[in-house]
Amino acid sequence: MSAVINSERIPNNVDLASDKKLQRALEAWQPKFLDWWRETGPEGFQADDVYLRTAISVDHEGWAHFDYVKMPDYRWGIFLADPVPGRTIGFGDHLGEPVWQEVPGELRNMLRRLVVTQGDTEPASVEQQRLLGQSCPSMYDLRNLFQVNVEEGRHLWAMVYLLHSHFGRDGREEAEALLERRSGDPDKPRVLGAFNEPCTNWLSFFMFTYFTDRDGKYQLLALSESGFDPLSRTTRFMLTEEAHHMFVGETGLLRVCQRTCELMKRNKNEDARAEGGVDLPTMQKYLNLWYSLSLDLFGGEISSNAASFFASSVKGRAKEGSYDDHRALEGVYPIDVPLAAGGGAVSGWRREEVPLRNAMNEVLRDEYVSDSQRGLDKMNRVIEESGVSFRLKLPSRRFHRSSGIHAGLHFDPEGNPLSKAEWERRRDDWLPTASDEAYVRSLMEKPVYDPKQMANWIAAPARGLKGKPVDFEYVRRSG
Ligand SMILES: [Fe+2]
Ligand SMILES: [Fe+2]
Repeated sequence: MSAVINSERIPNNVDLASDKKLQRALEAWQPKFLDWWRETGPEGFQADDVYLRTAISVDHEGWAHFDYVKMPDYRWGIFLADPVPGRTIGFGDHLGEPVWQEVPGELRNMLRRLVVTQGDTEPASVEQQRLLGQSCPSMYDLRNLFQVNVEEGRHLWAMVYLLHSHFGRDGREEAEALLERRSGDPDKPRVLGAFNEPCTNWLSFFMFTYFTDRDGKYQLLALSESGFDPLSRTTRFMLTEEAHHMFVGETGLLRVCQRTCELMKRNKNEDARAEGGVDLPTMQKYLNLWYSLSLDLFGGEISSNAASFFASSVKGRAKEGSYDDHRALEGVYPIDVPLAAGGGAVSGWRREEVPLRNAMNEVLRDEYVSDSQRGLDKMNRVIEESGVSFRLKLPSRRFHRSSGIHAGLHFDPEGNPLSKAEWERRRDDWLPTASDEAYVRSLMEKPVYDPKQMANWIAAPARGLKGKPVDFEYVRRSG
């Protein structure tokens, strides 16, 4: 087990003190990170004591410490999972070779791009969620939001550590740029689409943590297979934290489903809105939105970049060990490519037998889709057990896509092609409208800061955190 140093300015298990130059560079980046946090982190809560988990080691038994902390004093640290002795590369052209502790020169640009793309999503989500505390449904949820936020901050540290320690001056410049871009800023936007979308209410927050953080999980799983061992080790530990983010999304959505059904059952028309709840059709629209935005994050269905990442052994498949052929030189992946007829219409389809390596984005997306379905099945069970006939559904992966082979074309949630006029006529049936957004926000106008209370539109969680009761004072407001 690697030694953990928590007493230094930057807690770490990478023996930072032994590399003075690196330590100085990171200590110079730290105040800039804190400035960024104060400017774009949760607004209005920086002086509050929040009951937070802080990573203190990578020990499976006791990797985290729980206590009250003010967010700007959170101990953001650098933790890499312990090395696997004798680890060899598990896929691609370098299959079977020892993993790399340093970046191979010819892969430097590719690896830097992967690290920057991953790193950019971490601060972006903090920026997107910046105002949500002011409309929280409970102290329990408020604390979960902040937990996710500080850990996304730590994930930024994880990527910045790699940039500083392995990519020289370019890496240091990229680390600065990570603090300069801003989610949704037209002049200096974040790198990926979904991370520039506004996340303005708690239904979106739960959809985001359910769908968008789950993209994160699959990207991290693919990167944790990397032949570049420091990337593999850092992403492996990030996955430990990421699990909680998806717990927040999944249980949040389950609690909304539960409450909505309770409210429907008390109304003679089963009208959830009349009872101050989120109606299930609106929930479906937000699901359609965040699911389709998140699908885009996996990249094009047919991708030469994905093929080079795999060939170069820098990014594998999620759980590469569960596949038989780790070179993926043989197989093909059939993809139906829509033929554009102009004006966004589809005139037909062409079946392409895509060489497997070029379809790696789609392979990863497949895993993601079935993982997304699993939680949805649970939600539908809650709805079914309440005696409500509505079912939530994942839309077709063709629906509302802005990257890949379906971009610029129109499909309904079942995946049937539509003319542009038909799409425009029906869009509001499938995606949140301004009035849906206004309605959802109206439910959340008043934040709930009393630990004994829960907003009307969401059920209380089954249990609190870390053995604490649900009505524990998870956030102590400063005044
Ligand atoms: Fe993250
Ligand atoms: Fe996350």
